[in-house]
Amino acid sequence: MLKPNERCWCGSGLKYKRCHQTADAERLPTAPAPAAPEEKPTRPAMTPQGRPLVAVGRVSPGLSVPPEIARPDYALFGKPKRRFFSRGDSNPLTPDLLLRMRRACKAAAEVLDIAGKAVRPGITTEALDALAHREIIARGAYPSPLNYNGFPKSICTSVNEVVCHGIPDTRSLEEGDIVNIDITVFLDGMHGDCSATFPVGKISSAAQALIDVTRDCLDRGIAAVVPGRPISDIGRAIEALATQHRYGVVRAYCGHGIGESFHTGIYVPHFFDRSAKTIMRPGMTFTIEPMITIGSYECVQWPDGWTEVTTDRDLTAQFEHTIVVTDTGAEILTVV
Ligand code: MF3
Ligand code: CO
Ligand code: CO
Repeated sequence: MLKPNERCWCGSGLKYKRCHQTADAERLPTAPAPAAPEEKPTRPAMTPQGRPLVAVGRVSPGLSVPPEIARPDYALFGKPKRRFFSRGDSNPLTPDLLLRMRRACKAAAEVLDIAGKAVRPGITTEALDALAHREIIARGAYPSPLNYNGFPKSICTSVNEVVCHGIPDTRSLEEGDIVNIDITVFLDGMHGDCSATFPVGKISSAAQALIDVTRDCLDRGIAAVVPGRPISDIGRAIEALATQHRYGVVRAYCGHGIGESFHTGIYVPHFFDRSAKTIMRPGMTFTIEPMITIGSYECVQWPDGWTEVTTDRDLTAQFEHTIVVTDTGAEILTVV
C-alpha cells in the first residue's frame, strides 16, 4: 500500500494522493492503460521479393474529354453494347472501315511512342496518363479505356509484376522498374490498340531479357498470321519461343478482335489452344498482345477490381499490336 506522498504506481510521476489514491480507495476500476499506438505501416505490405501486395499510389479522378470528340457507346454509362460478330468485328472490314481503322491505329501508335519517351525515374504513371490523354485528344480521339466497364483512367500502366490493366496512379516510377503502357484510342468510329514495355532507367539483365523475348514473341505471333489458317497458329508460335526461354505465357488474357468495338468475339490465345479454330481471313482485324512471365503465368487481381498481377509477383512484360489479315499474312496497323 502506497503512502499519499509517494509517487503513484501508475508511472504518472504524480504523488499517489494526487493520482490514483482516491480511485483505489473507492475501488473504482482504473481507466484502462491507453493502448500502445498502433505501428503505422510506412510501406505497404510487401512480398518476399519486395514487391507490393496492393497499390502504393492513389488514383485521381479521370480526365475530361471535350464534348466535340465522338465517344464510344460505353463512355457515359460504362457498359459496352455487345455487338460481337457485327460488321467490322469478326467479319472482314470493308475498305472504308479499314481506312478509318488505319487512322485510329496510327494515332494510338503515335501516342504510345510519345508516352514511352516520357518514361524515366521519378515520373508518376498518373503523369503518363495525363500526357497520353492530352495527345489522344489533340488527335481528335477518345481514350478508349476511359469508363470502359468503369475503368477510371485513359490508359493502362502495368509496372513490374503487373500483368495488365494497371491503373495510373501517384506512384513514381523507380530506376530498375519496367512499365507497360497500353494505349487504345477511338477515332473515326474505330478502336486502335497497342502497347509496349519500357525500361525505367537502368534495369537488370533479367528484366531486359524478358522485354526482348516478349517483343520477339509478338513478332513470332504476327509472322504466324496466314490467311486460311486457324488462329491457334499464333499462340503455338508464341508459346514455342517463350518455352525455349523457360518463360510463362499468360492464359487468362488474350488478344481480341477489334474495330467498331474495343473487344469483339475473336479470341486470340497466346498459348496453343486447339479450340481456337477461327480461320484467319483477309480483312479481319485483331490484336496480338502476349504477356510473358519469368515465373508463374497465373494471375491474381488486386482489390481494385482491375490490376492483374502474377501470383508469385515476379516480373512480366507485354507488347501489343493491332493487325489486319492480308492476302499473304499480316499488316501491322499500329505503326506511326
Ligand atoms: N488495352 C487493353 C487491351 O489490350 C484493354 C484495356 S481495358 C481497360 O485489350 F478497361 F482496362 F482499359
Ligand atoms: Co491494349
Ligand atoms: Co488489346
